[in-house]
Amino acid sequence: MNQDELKQAVADAALAYVEPKLENDTVLGIGTGSTANLFIDALGAIKGKVNATVASSQASAERLKGHGIPVYDLNSVDKVDFYIDGADESNRALQLIKGGGAALTREKIVTAVAGEFICIADESKLVHTLGQFPLPVEVIPMARSHVARELVKLGGDPVYREGVVTDNGNVILDVYNFPIPQPLTTEERINNITGVVTNGLFALKPADVLLLGTQDGVRTLYPE
Ligand code: A5P
Repeated sequence: MNQDELKQAVADAALAYVEPKLENDTVLGIGTGSTANLFIDALGAIKGKVNATVASSQASAERLKGHGIPVYDLNSVDKVDFYIDGADESNRALQLIKGGGAALTREKIVTAVAGEFICIADESKLVHTLGQFPLPVEVIPMARSHVARELVKLGGDPVYREGVVTDNGNVILDVYNFPIPQPLTTEERINNITGVVTNGLFALKPADVLLLGTQDGVRTLYPE
């Protein structure tokens, strides 16, 4: 199977995982990116069973609405039962790098609310040590140079993602050449830089389960 077929397999597996758990008042959190898009499209086939979703980006909200699936503002729901989203990298503890699609802050907010975070990814995303994928950092625009200098002090090589403005009106710095052996410490340290909105490490609240698309089928991984 190619990468797109593996993504489709995990999107289908996520639907099979949540469908039996859906109740009238279930709220689904929906992520962003190509894998999440396939899940949204799969969800369209059972839209009558989905009464409420919240989306981690305007793009995903529009896609959900296109399928006739109800989308709510996060402030108008009192819980999110499941959050389904992709990742750019995962380690065996299911600590993630996210934000390749620039939606990291809203993704982290929905993750914070979610009862269970179901990550869906193809096997290329599973790594031993995070950091081969450049770490996205969302930054208030006027703080961009300051934050970049602080990231250099931490040993990284930040690059301004030209032409990208997040749904929150901010900019993204991608930190290259930055292996992350201690994701908890690094997530906190970068978030403490003044001007950082958040960074793409999901270590303080990792995924609860990873549905990983492999050539041998979809594997269900729990944090090690
Ligand atoms: C979006 O900001 C990201 O966090 C995505 O979840 C991540 O980039 C995975 O995207 P793909 O499913 O397109 O690989």
